[in-house]
Amino acid sequence: MKASPRTISGDALASVPIFSSLDAKGLDAVAKAGKTQSYDAGKTIVEAGATGVGFFFILGGEVEVRQRGRTIAKLGKGQFFGEMALIDGQPRTADVVAVGPTECFALSAWSFASLIKTEPKISLGVMKELVRRLRETDKVLTQ
Ligand code: CMP
Repeated sequence: MKASPRTISGDALASVPIFSSLDAKGLDAVAKAGKTQSYDAGKTIVEAGATGVGFFFILGGEVEVRQRGRTIAKLGKGQFFGEMALIDGQPRTADVVAVGPTECFALSAWSFASLIKTEPKISLGVMKELVRRLRETDKVLTQ
């Protein structure tokens, strides 16, 4: 049975690294803006080519990022996905699939944009992660 989306408290987001700059009030505001959703193993959370409507943080479990069936990255607790299509308005670049039972906190495109505009430390956190992923890709290409 598929669990329905739930709201959570700000405390539940305190362990997400890019939210570490937020105080309790800020965490509560972010928590109110989104919903948590549970996914069974094998569930495709984001589909390559689709229009991006949400940004996801992994609260528990693990996902694989796949392009044409090939796994290009694994992401776990505290990490995020779904930012690329929201940043440039292009289609989703990859499938993101739950490896085991996975719980995510999802923000709408609108809430993501608002957070990026009002919280410079969160924007910087997203940029740092994008740079980390680019470095990983560079490493693979030069191996
Ligand atoms: P988006 O394109 O919106 O949807 C698919 C997501 O997979 C993408 O955003 C990123 O969050 C994630 N993704 C794509 N490529 C990589 C990569 N090389 N490493 C980690 N995550 C990725």
